[in-house]
Amino acid sequence: MVRTLTKKSFALSALVAASLMTSGVMANDKTEPRNEVYKDKFSKQYNSWHETSESTEIVDVLEADPNLVVLWAGYGFAKDYNKARGHMYAITDVRNTLRTGAPKSDADGPMPMACWSCKSPDVPRMIEEQGEDGYFTGKWYKGGAEIVNTIGCSDCHVSGKSKLRISRPFAERAMETIGTPFDKASRKDKQSMVCGQCHVEYYFEKTKDKKGFVKFPWDQGITVDAAEAYYDGIQFADWTHKISKTPMLKAQHPGYETWKLGVHGQNNVSCTDCHMPRVKNAEGRKYTDHKVGNPFDRFEETCGTCHEQSKEFMVDLTNQRKAKVEELKMAAEGQLVKAHFEAGAAWEAGATEAEMKPILTDIRHSQWRWDYATASHGVAAHAPAEALRILGTAVDKAADARVKLAHLLANKGVKQPISYPDTSTKAKAQAAMGMDMKKMNADKEEFKKTEVPKWEVEAKKREATY
Ligand code: HEC
Ligand code: HEC
Ligand code: HEC
Ligand code: HEC
Repeated sequence: MVRTLTKKSFALSALVAASLMTSGVMANDKTEPRNEVYKDKFSKQYNSWHETSESTEIVDVLEADPNLVVLWAGYGFAKDYNKARGHMYAITDVRNTLRTGAPKSDADGPMPMACWSCKSPDVPRMIEEQGEDGYFTGKWYKGGAEIVNTIGCSDCHVSGKSKLRISRPFAERAMETIGTPFDKASRKDKQSMVCGQCHVEYYFEKTKDKKGFVKFPWDQGITVDAAEAYYDGIQFADWTHKISKTPMLKAQHPGYETWKLGVHGQNNVSCTDCHMPRVKNAEGRKYTDHKVGNPFDRFEETCGTCHEQSKEFMVDLTNQRKAKVEELKMAAEGQLVKAHFEAGAAWEAGATEAEMKPILTDIRHSQWRWDYATASHGVAAHAPAEALRILGTAVDKAADARVKLAHLLANKGVKQPISYPDTSTKAKAQAAMGMDMKKMNADKEEFKKTEVPKWEVEAKKREATY
């Protein structure tokens, strides 16, 4: 029997819309960063929010796919990169990752303040107190004793109210750029825009008057191509690749952008419809489930409100799409890893800047596209066709680079295929990239033992005065 994709009416969601609570506890305009304050007043929302702590699993993505160490050589992500987990762990994980290093004072790098921007309601609090200029000035260490409450109520709500808000001015500016300021947006739009404060592509702006501000590269549009043109236009690079010397772009997590391009985004099925469904508690009272996680865990209240297929069918379909995206992603990676090493060999054989330029442009664009699709978490569910289109262009551009490299290497008298180092495990790949992991790990452990507890003591003292 052929199954067709049908949907039930939208009447249900309209009903839900009508039942929205509008009042809350006493509120003022100041951001309340402490989530526990709402524990009793909004117990259903608070408790379900707290359950994001059940998503504990740490998946080491570099271990699973050592290609990434080569692709990100010379950049923080080659040190350490885990799959996203529950919102409850945002602060813990940003402290623990090797990417933030082991700073001992405000003066130490490697990361800037901007790195805290999607982790906590303390971010809008600091911006209110110090302005964006004050907040963004300085290194990541500076925020350690300030930014201590994990992603929570005041990130998405006017403090003490059920009213939604965008809490970050840089996100508000970006939404305006693509046409809709938050206060003009429909209720459905708002339900996705709150997620789009963080689940987006962004970079750290470097202009004369704005140092290290977070900006979304949406001036020319929200597609991968538009962001690429934007970055090329301002000659932006996140880092220079260690082997190929390519001026690289690192994609962050353009989930909001790719969701918009998928069939659900185009029908304005919001992030909330699938990740924060309306549910009933034991007494039959309806509320929004704040346990942001896998929609299949509450199938009847998510997909099941619009579709008649079984959970099994939908999970299987999603898995098939994941496998197809994975296949093309690995094809792009295979090409890119070789392209980086071949470009390295070309430099060694005396290639000139002018000879390398078109090749490095291909590598830059190819890897940007591969990364954009890969880092759009959930893309195989949200927008599988767009993911495959993006990855197809990534394979194409890497192949262009390798054709040019084959000619160049032949001209320089280099015997092909060149020899590629053994990068078959995370440890081997990191060693091949000349990374001293033992020292990095030891420094991090020391940092966790000595610096983090100091931050916590200071934060407690400050919060006691609220
Ligand atoms: C990631 C964003 C996000 C976070 C974090 C968040 N909320 Fe919500 N909240 C929402 C959305 C989306 C809705 C649904 C709004 C709608 O129906 O249009 C909502 C609805 C609500 C409502 C209205 C009643 C209901 O259940 O629909 C209350 C009250 C509420 N949240 C309280 C809280 C509290 C308390 C916290 C912190 C423990 C919190 N929220 C954290 C996004 C968030
Ligand atoms: C303030 C920034 C911020 C906002 C707002 C936000 N997220 Fe997240 N989200 C994150 C970060 C950071 C992580 C990764 C946390 C970690 O791994 O420590 C994450 C993780 C997730 C995960 C993975 C959870 C898991 O258990 O694997 C999902 C799904 C998710 N977010 C969806 C959403 C949705 C849907 C919304 C809007 C309702 C939203 N997020 C709003 C920053 C945010
Ligand atoms: C609020 C309603 C709503 C919810 C919730 C919803 N969908 Fe959909 N879905 C739609 C609409 C609208 C379409 C567009 C096609 C149509 O008009 O039938 C669609 C189309 C689809 C399609 C066919 C298009 C394609 O991607 O090839 C699939 C598959 C699908 N949805 C899966 C899911 C899954 C899985 C979930 C839960 C994780 C889900 N949907 C949740 C409304 C919804
Ligand atoms: C139609 C339903 C639907 C909508 C709408 C939707 N998602 Fe998802 N999302 C899913 C499904 C299904 C998965 C994959 C679950 C799985 O891997 O089994 C997923 C995965 C994710 C993940 C990856 C989680 C992980 O641990 O791998 C993130 C992050 C995420 N979604 C965020 C968002 C954001 C942000 C929005 C809105 C901009 C959004 N989603 C809109 C259904 C949806």
